[in-house]
Amino acid sequence: MKLFAASLVLALGIGAAHAAPDAAALYQTHCASCHGSDRFGATGPALLPDNLGRLGKRGAEAVIGEGRAGTKMRGFRAVLDEQSIKALAAYVNAPPPTAPVWGRAQIEASRVLTPDLSAAKPVFSADPLNLFVVVEGGDHHVSIVDGDSFTPIYRFPSRFALHGGPKFTPDGRYVFFSSRDGWVTKFDLWTLKVTAEIRAGLNSRNIALSRDGRHVAVANYLPDTLVILSAADLSVEKIFDVADSNGKASRVSAVYQAPPRDSFVVALKDTPEIWEISTAAQPDPFSLRRIALTTPLDDFFFDPSYRHVLGAHQDGNRAIVVDLDSGREVATLPLAGMPHLGSGISWMRDGHLVMATPHLKDGKISVIDTTNWKVIAEIPTPGPGYFLRSHDNTPYAWADSSLSPQHRDEISIIDKQSLKVVRTLKPAPGKMTAHVEFDRSGKHALVSVMEKNGAVIVYDAATFQEIKRLPMAKPIGKYNVYNKITFSEGTSH
Ligand code: HEC
Repeated sequence: MKLFAASLVLALGIGAAHAAPDAAALYQTHCASCHGSDRFGATGPALLPDNLGRLGKRGAEAVIGEGRAGTKMRGFRAVLDEQSIKALAAYVNAPPPTAPVWGRAQIEASRVLTPDLSAAKPVFSADPLNLFVVVEGGDHHVSIVDGDSFTPIYRFPSRFALHGGPKFTPDGRYVFFSSRDGWVTKFDLWTLKVTAEIRAGLNSRNIALSRDGRHVAVANYLPDTLVILSAADLSVEKIFDVADSNGKASRVSAVYQAPPRDSFVVALKDTPEIWEISTAAQPDPFSLRRIALTTPLDDFFFDPSYRHVLGAHQDGNRAIVVDLDSGREVATLPLAGMPHLGSGISWMRDGHLVMATPHLKDGKISVIDTTNWKVIAEIPTPGPGYFLRSHDNTPYAWADSSLSPQHRDEISIIDKQSLKVVRTLKPAPGKMTAHVEFDRSGKHALVSVMEKNGAVIVYDAATFQEIKRLPMAKPIGKYNVYNKITFSEGTSH
């Protein structure tokens, strides 16, 4: 009998060594407790293909083997062999066998409300309209910084991988964050407390707030929905199943607030339409207008009147101008090298309103005359970059070259009238440096060193002298309350 048991164990052992590892079973044993048995996430992030994105299989193998220092994600190299790690990396990068469901019932069940401790004034003495909200992607935290003294006044953990830019209520008191995995968080900047959270999707792109500050729209990649929440308590107001007129579903690339139009404008990934959703209380709240396009457009820039929107063509070489009043495409602009229109800014030059955009593939800033939609200049920069920022009170615009391996540490300062680069800064040699945001007055520019042991560096915006360096964990974005709620021309929204 003993002999029989021993040979059985031996036989099973040999069998397991030769068969391909059962990734689904390994996942349930080793991973489900933190990432959820459905892979939707729990204490750990969601492990679904759209969410993992650029990490891909290779990146996932490294994380599963090595773990991530300083987090609950430990390395599994001691427990799992190479084959099992590879199988798990492939498993989490493949779509689940049945399409994930995240409808009204799941969204509503995820909502968490914290009693709103009302306060008559902020719990700190700093100017509440000159705060900076700094998103630290390195360890998933948010810092609130006094924009006069440049001192951090509070730091708290965020949801995993915030993105899309926080949005503020018109009075500047509340800020809303969205996370990669679909969480929306409402934070009270006066009491420094989270007041509500809800998971509006499994993979979200960004959020927008309505003109009156009463509604939050959430753009989802998974599922194909646009979710509208009440800004007061994040309860669900409406869910749009996003599809073209023939019923073909589409992911939502992004949603934008268009205050002068009292609407949300929605970019669709898989269908040639722009959606405009009314946020006016009368006559029909959330009524939908479909604007037909010749091709899907993404990554929008709006002129300050919000009459025209520029969208990037998927070929990466063109932008198309749509007149939102007539619903017509009115111009096509040749913009080779993947324009990043979402980072576009505008200003007055020679009596004309111009807009400028960086490019993700080419080292240049394109300047466009919005009166005739012609490209009037291409300002060379050391390399391609993500962002461009200015302020009404400064003659300069600041651009990064963070996508260039050799010049990722350089910031180019451009004169908005001569369109010449007047200064190049290299605040942290060798380190990726990008994303500039001005303070309320426009006298200071804050620059991010986007490394785990990175920094936010405060510059005098006129002399380009460094004033202060605040250590931060990969500060991927920072947002000045005043500049955001006044829709400053120098920043994106
Ligand atoms: C004790 C909890 C825990 C367990 C068990 C766990 N993880 Fe994680 N995992 C995490 C956390 C937390 C993170 C996020 C780390 C960070 O902040 O970057 C993470 C991150 C990851 C990431 C990177 C996700 C991204 O988007 O960057 C992958 C891939 C991953 N885990 C796979 C696995 C696999 C596969 C297993 C099982 C073999 C596993 N994890 C087990 C907690 C866990």
